[in-house]
Amino acid sequence: MKILKAAGVALVAILLVAQLFRIDKSNPPVESEVIAPPQVKEIMRRSCYDCHSNEVAWPWYADVAPASWLVAHDVHEGRDELNFSTWGTYSPARRQKKLKEIGKTIEEGEMPPWYYIYPMHREARLSPADRDVLMAWVKSESAALKQQAAQPPAR
Ligand code: HEC
Repeated sequence: MKILKAAGVALVAILLVAQLFRIDKSNPPVESEVIAPPQVKEIMRRSCYDCHSNEVAWPWYADVAPASWLVAHDVHEGRDELNFSTWGTYSPARRQKKLKEIGKTIEEGEMPPWYYIYPMHREARLSPADRDVLMAWVKSESAALKQQAAQPPAR
């Protein structure tokens, strides 16, 4: 019993000290946001923006270590991979590549990650209709980029 009590005290102490390591909950300025029809934007905002934008709505558990560290990790990795707030600064080649990846993650049901959806963000789950809307956007954007690339630059 004594050992259990000591272990309990140690755990509480570790958790208290962990709270001192705060995460960076900043949202850098929105540089050049993706341009998309309102219906597409609504889905992106609801399902992707908490990790792939500079408009993250940090949840309350982002203030509680160690959950906060996981949230920070997701946002930083997520923004590195794809940031809808800086989409306009991507080169056409990078956009084309990202569109392909977006299509793949949606088709395979990888994004948004399940651990984000359950239990805190049920509304972020993509319905079959949401997927169709996003996939149609991916296809039309990709086709427009291809067409642009085929045309000689305007003078
Ligand atoms: C809870 C945070 C979170 C949400 C919400 C989220 N993502 Fe991600 N996403 C990540 C992280 C973290 C990575 C990088 C690591 C990885 O690939 O798993 C990532 C990577 C990606 C990539 C990079 C390529 C790849 O294959 O991994 C794409 C594309 C992507 N996400 C699309 C989306 C789309 C589209 C949505 C919305 C429908 C979305 N994500 C929602 C966290 C998130």
